[in-house]
Amino acid sequence: MLHQYQIFASLLAAATASPLSINSPNNTTNSTIAKSFKEVPLSATLQYVECFEGFKCANLEVPLDYDNTSIGTTNVAFLKWETPKQPAKGDILINPGGPGDSGVQYVENDLEILIGLFGDSYNIVGMDPRGVNNSGPIINCFPGQPGVRDYYDSQYYLKYDPHSPAQLVEHFEDAGAFGDWCMQTLNETARYANTPATARDMLQYAELLSESQGCDKTEAKVDYYGVSYGSALGTTFATLYPDRVGRMIIDGVVDVEDYYGGSWTQNVIQADQAVDQFFQECFNAKSNCSFYRNESSPAEIQQRFDAVLADLEKAPIPVSDPNLVQFPTTITHIDARSLLLQFIYNGQTNYPTIADQFSLLEQRNASLIITYLALAGTPKGLTLPLGGLEAAPEFSPVQPKLIIACNDQHGNYNISTVEKWQEYVSTLEGISRYAGGVWAAVITLQCRKLGFVPPETQQFPGFKKDLKTANPILFTTNTIDPVASSADKMSPFFADSVVLKQHAIGHGMQVAHSNCTTGYLTKFMETGELPPKGTVCEIEDKYFQVTEEAGGPTVQKRGIPKWSSIGW
Ligand SMILES: *[C@@H]1O[C@H](CO)[C@@H](O)[C@H](O)[C@H]1NC(C)=O
Ligand SMILES: *[C@@H]1O[C@H](CO)[C@@H](O)[C@H](O)[C@H]1NC(C)=O
Ligand SMILES: *[C@@H]1O[C@H](CO)[C@@H](O)[C@H](O)[C@H]1NC(C)=O
Ligand SMILES: *[C@@H]1O[C@H](CO)[C@@H](O)[C@H](O)[C@H]1NC(C)=O
Ligand SMILES: *[C@@H]1O[C@H](CO)[C@@H](O)[C@H](O)[C@H]1NC(C)=O
Ligand SMILES: *[C@@H]1O[C@H](CO)[C@@H](O)[C@H](O)[C@H]1NC(C)=O
Ligand SMILES: *[C@@H]1O[C@H](CO)[C@@H](O)[C@H](O)[C@H]1NC(C)=O
Ligand SMILES: *[C@@H]1O[C@H](CO)[C@@H](O)[C@H](O)[C@H]1NC(C)=O
Ligand SMILES: *[C@@H]1O[C@H](CO)[C@@H](O)[C@H](O)[C@H]1NC(C)=O
Ligand SMILES: *[C@@H]1O[C@H](CO)[C@@H](O)[C@H](O)[C@H]1NC(C)=O
Ligand SMILES: *[C@@H]1O[C@H](CO)[C@@H](O)[C@H](O)[C@H]1NC(C)=O
Repeated sequence: MLHQYQIFASLLAAATASPLSINSPNNTTNSTIAKSFKEVPLSATLQYVECFEGFKCANLEVPLDYDNTSIGTTNVAFLKWETPKQPAKGDILINPGGPGDSGVQYVENDLEILIGLFGDSYNIVGMDPRGVNNSGPIINCFPGQPGVRDYYDSQYYLKYDPHSPAQLVEHFEDAGAFGDWCMQTLNETARYANTPATARDMLQYAELLSESQGCDKTEAKVDYYGVSYGSALGTTFATLYPDRVGRMIIDGVVDVEDYYGGSWTQNVIQADQAVDQFFQECFNAKSNCSFYRNESSPAEIQQRFDAVLADLEKAPIPVSDPNLVQFPTTITHIDARSLLLQFIYNGQTNYPTIADQFSLLEQRNASLIITYLALAGTPKGLTLPLGGLEAAPEFSPVQPKLIIACNDQHGNYNISTVEKWQEYVSTLEGISRYAGGVWAAVITLQCRKLGFVPPETQQFPGFKKDLKTANPILFTTNTIDPVASSADKMSPFFADSVVLKQHAIGHGMQVAHSNCTTGYLTKFMETGELPPKGTVCEIEDKYFQVTEEAGGPTVQKRGIPKWSSIGW
């Protein structure tokens, strides 16, 4: 019989690209369309060749250190969709988050979402930042062993209960061992994978593009959309090269000072609000919400919800049904909390799933959570990755995420003892009682023994207030963002910038359908016109009755992120 996980495994396989074929280099430049960046010629000028289905690709050779070219070079990958409306108004560089997520993959897979947001006056260009997917330097702490890498990553995150003192200690030591391991298996060039260096590569792109069009490269501007970690990259660029800011939309906005400062305490400040809103919407939806049991207030729903978590903590659910799992396992409150965190990345879409999941957990039925944990890349009771170890892809974003973030916070990191780690976990649990404990495990601790030092010229100097940019920046945010709600903090660093809010719950504009939002974004890209200060856009989606027809024509929703994309 077909196991549930096998059904999902095949769904997932259908959704991902087929294995890349590698042709001999002399068979690539002309007669074939490149199917992999290995087939795209490396060049210090922008040389686009046809690639994949309907895209163009360039593999740009850049200095590892622009201030000391004797150190050597690396490559940066770009994948471009050319609008049929040529000449285009420009090339929008895209960053989907992470750090570690691939702009190339994002544009290749989600082009329609992006056209829905910005219209079609621009070419849309996915860029893999340094250290990510098709761009060098290669960051993989398990070279040649993708199955081992994915197994390690899938086991690490849900292993430790932050409420257990013994497990806090074990976690602290394990994270240190990870750093020691990577310092031995990674190439020293990993230190050049950092955000200021990637910002410099963006400038290089804009200058080369401008030159290729016969324009003065010193006037070249960068057009950009970045969400999540992309807000760190975008604000870094704008701070380092303010006179080179073209049209910039910065979405799902991280507290970038907190990011560089090494503390990572400002991410989940609205996470509990996103969960509270679930109680409210479940209450409003009555029997449309599967968790509703005729309660007379949202607070009563919350009491049952909290009781489920408390019960799981006291008594984890053993799972021993051979139709459900490959080997027996136990579901803990950490499993439930980590999925809850992932679900609130998009309240519009995922509230019904939270309701279903907690209804079953209340009955101590683990069937649904087993499925979702596997989908999220953190399986319990099933081998990993979905499809087996041999199906592990060449690239995984997990280690690039850690290395880039830890490089960026070099010198500021201070969780140096178990006591400080305990303090940090309690601080985060104080900020979010639902998600703080699991968020604490995402990044910071693993910086502990990662000792790469970016060259001084690639260390971020800090923000200045009210910095004048060549064109004002548009910041966008949902009214509740569970992991990055700092648009109002970041905007004052940039003169004349505006924050556009969307009345939705989740991370990034695309979690909801809103003609109002897409209208403002498209107008901004076309004309540079900013929305009036204080604008809040309503959305077309209704909680607990989301349909694909609601709202704008092509904007889609972000579903459940994989654990590897948390971060942002
Ligand atoms: C050349 O490319 C074609 C088309 O992609 C492919 O079928 C063929 O096997 C390649 N030949 C070599 C020698 O790589
Ligand atoms: C590729 O180039 C090599 C060396 O120039 C040559 O020996 C080989 O025949 C070429 N292969 C194809 C498929 O053109
Ligand atoms: C190879 O490139 C030349 C010139 O760029 C072009 O005319 C020709 O059609 C290409 N051949 C194929 C098979 O694409
Ligand atoms: C450039 O890098 C090389 C090799 O690491 C080093 O020897 C040299 O001192 C550096 N030059 C400058 C100007 O920093
Ligand atoms: C890496 O890029 C390739 C395209 O070259 C894409 O097919 C693949 O999905 C990307 N991998 C990830 C994990 O982003
Ligand atoms: C690090 O990577 C660079 C570039 O790929 C390579 O030239 C160098 O030999 C590598 N160093 C080590 C120690 O592997
Ligand atoms: C329940 O869902 C149906 C269909 O989507 C909708 O018509 C109805 O108004 C909803 N009920 C409540 C209480 O929201
Ligand atoms: C809720 O109340 C309705 C009407 O009184 C009743 O039919 C239904 O069984 C109740 N549902 C639950 C879960 O108690
Ligand atoms: C658990 O829930 C699933 C989905 O509702 C259901 O199919 C299954 O029978 C339940 N298992 C038990 C043991 O009740
Ligand atoms: C670490 O440094 C931050 C400021 O960067 C400070 O707020 C925090 O208290 C420090 N944490 C510890 C555990 O020393
Ligand atoms: C949003 O725009 C689409 C397409 O332009 C239109 O069909 C739909 O009615 C609009 N929805 C609202 C609520 O304005």
